Amino acid sequence: MSVIVRTATPGSAQLPRIIGGRAAGPEEWEQWSEEPGHDLVAQDDSRVVGGIHVSLVSRSEAWLENLRVHPDVWGRGIAVQLVKEGEAVARRYGAAVARTAIPAHEYAAQAVAERAGYKPSLRCVVVEAPLPSGPAHVPYDAPVHALGPDRASDLMRFLESTPALAAWHRLVPLGWRFRRIALDLVRGLLKDHRALAALHPGAQAGVVQAAALFTVRGDAVVLAVLDGSPPGMQAVFGTVTEDVRAAEATRAAIFAPELRSLETLDVRGWTPHPWCPEGLVVVEKSLAS
Ligand SMILES: CC(C)(COP(=O)(O)OP(=O)(O)OC[C@H]1O[C@@H](n2cnc3c(N)ncnc32)[C@H](O)[C@@H]1OP(=O)(O)O)[C@@H](O)C(=O)NCCC(=O)NCCS
Repeated sequence: MSVIVRTATPGSAQLPRIIGGRAAGPEEWEQWSEEPGHDLVAQDDSRVVGGIHVSLVSRSEAWLENLRVHPDVWGRGIAVQLVKEGEAVARRYGAAVARTAIPAHEYAAQAVAERAGYKPSLRCVVVEAPLPSGPAHVPYDAPVHALGPDRASDLMRFLESTPALAAWHRLVPLGWRFRRIALDLVRGLLKDHRALAALHPGAQAGVVQAAALFTVRGDAVVLAVLDGSPPGMQAVFGTVTEDVRAAEATRAAIFAPELRSLETLDVRGWTPHPWCPEGLVVVEKSLAS
């Protein structure tokens, strides 16, 4: 059986996200997506047998997701073929690196990534909880501000100093897609009111002690990063919670290097996201050469 991979058109048949009882991507992958992309489909003589989605998350970084192959034809190299075609599209748009996130328990997908030349880059947990009701706990010694875009470099410097960004090698997840933090990105998030910072009071007034990058998608506020001093994290999380309740969010989803880093929030009932109950492994490959 020969399989060709081509770019999908709006009318193309596509495999569903859940195939062979396994989810190729999280339920919210489209709702949380930040940028458009390209769907590729693998087709044999008579039908669609696979698919992958490719997005450019910056001028030089690509993100692959929703890789899936029909169970009838598993083990014939079609996933690797889809990944290679996805990389070719990414290269054509100028990407020098490609990444994807794989649930830590999905060994088949990790085997595909390894076979295609990807190396593990970082690990991440994604946890969810209903938004706490009632007044949020906002410590008095961590005043929270929506910084103006002119403070982008301060915020970026702070974020780069956090354990979260050290563990993630300066990558941040927006939606499910990680990309390198950059000044333009931080400035854009500040302009869009998608960042909050807790500042030090007193002698150090104005210096950032904690920060969050977040957005509301559907019923969820998605926190891409939340790090800093314990009172600062509590203050930022409390303020985000109060702000997004007005936008009708009822749950929070947080990306973090490890669950322990969120203990200070004292939120009962964090549950792992069902797509990645043991967390995510982000893998990457250079597309140079
Ligand atoms: C994961 C998936 C895409 C693999 O598709 P595939 O076409 O069977 O994969 P390939 O044939 O290209 O396999 C590539 C390599 O991975 C290995 N591999 C694939 N499935 C494997 C499995 N279940 N266990 C161990 N290794 C596996 C193959 O052995 C092969 O290595 P090899 O060439 O050295 O033998 C397919 O199982 C699938 O659609 N799963 C459901 C959706 C999903 O989990 N998507 C990934 C989300 S991150």
